[in-house]
Amino acid sequence: MKIPQDFVLGVATAAYQIEGTRFGDVGPSHWDSFAAQGGTIGRQNGDVACAHYEKWLEDLDLIAHGNFDAYRFSVAWPRIQRDGREAPRAEGLDFYDQLVDGALARGIEPHCTLYHWDLPQALADKGGWENQDTAKYFADYCAHVSDRLGDRLASVATVNEPWCVAWLSHFLGHHAPGKRDLSAAAKAMHNILYAHGLGAAALRDLGRKDIGIVLNMEYAAPATDREADRHAAAIFDGIYNRWFIEALTKGAYPSDILEHLEPHMPVGWQDQMQTIAQPLDWMGLNYYTRSIHADDGTGIFPFGQTQIGPLPKTSMGWEVYPEGLQYFLERMHRDYTGNLPLYVTENGMALHDKVADGGVDDAQRVGYFRDHLAAALAARDAGVPLKGYFAWSLLDNFEWAFGYSERFGLVHVDYDTQTRTPKESFRFFQNLR
Ligand code: FCB
Repeated sequence: MKIPQDFVLGVATAAYQIEGTRFGDVGPSHWDSFAAQGGTIGRQNGDVACAHYEKWLEDLDLIAHGNFDAYRFSVAWPRIQRDGREAPRAEGLDFYDQLVDGALARGIEPHCTLYHWDLPQALADKGGWENQDTAKYFADYCAHVSDRLGDRLASVATVNEPWCVAWLSHFLGHHAPGKRDLSAAAKAMHNILYAHGLGAAALRDLGRKDIGIVLNMEYAAPATDREADRHAAAIFDGIYNRWFIEALTKGAYPSDILEHLEPHMPVGWQDQMQTIAQPLDWMGLNYYTRSIHADDGTGIFPFGQTQIGPLPKTSMGWEVYPEGLQYFLERMHRDYTGNLPLYVTENGMALHDKVADGGVDDAQRVGYFRDHLAAALAARDAGVPLKGYFAWSLLDNFEWAFGYSERFGLVHVDYDTQTRTPKESFRFFQNLR
């Protein structure tokens, strides 16, 4: 497989999933609380995770050894401000400062995500993403991190996956804070974008020219050709795929979704659309799977239910559908982002990998990566300004509600000993350069 010379090949992680909150002086986040209340398998949590806070040098060496050009990591907000509001803490900033320098020293471009879900509990206690104050505190936090790291970052993303922050966490209840409430979800659907807007403006004021956001998209297929099923798929597509990108690029929400959410939106939301739609320097797409949708017969928004599809699946039951990656890159470029540079900021699959004879044979994952990289490069050949691709993830890690049961790593982690064992998929990337 031929990778263009100027195409960035990277690997991604997120703070709460790898660092270990036991290490360093980190404040509590709503993920700690959600896990403690039973929101995750077996109440597993990020206390230790991959102990990356202690093993970061070894982990940077692994990235270099894999011949990656770039590393996408996230900053834990409660390491910088334990309660989300106080003056920035030297210990937290120092950790990321040395991480960035360590990446650069190894010839690896550092790409920083500011919010990958670890909201300080003190802000969650005041309403979290239902409260617009959280968006304002977020902008302050963005400035603090940029002040310290900004001169050495290749890019900065405000928010990772607003759909997960809002819908998955406030309507479906699968992620912290675990709500199942349309009114809460509607507020979060807007406020997380408002936080992005205020954060991006704060970063712009500091002179940054590399500001982006990371959206996740899931291909929505109707179960049958029936009008009701096609409608259910279109509504899913609207909530998941259109809501965020239309607001960010057109300054408006899709009307078929807005008509259901509008009664619950925060007061004054219309006046904030310009802040949300300010110019960006790049956009990231996280893509994993497609899903099948049928009308649920309730006549109640969002009308649909998902069904099990026929394609090969990951250990999480997610269908493997590389065509969807090419589809979304071309759709983003054609309908929304034009000449804006795009990155695939996450893509990968879960398996229940086991170490045997000192290695991990994850041939199915190698196939997944090969096919998705090919799909991404096909979109690039078709004219999409795609600048790079980040594999999810460097390490097996804390997979949110699934705890440690699902493994996405290119590198296997033995959680008893913290031993890292590169898998065949790691060798696949290593050999691409
Ligand atoms: C994405 C998240 C990432 C990881 C993968 C599997 O939604 O951004 O943290 O959990 O899914």
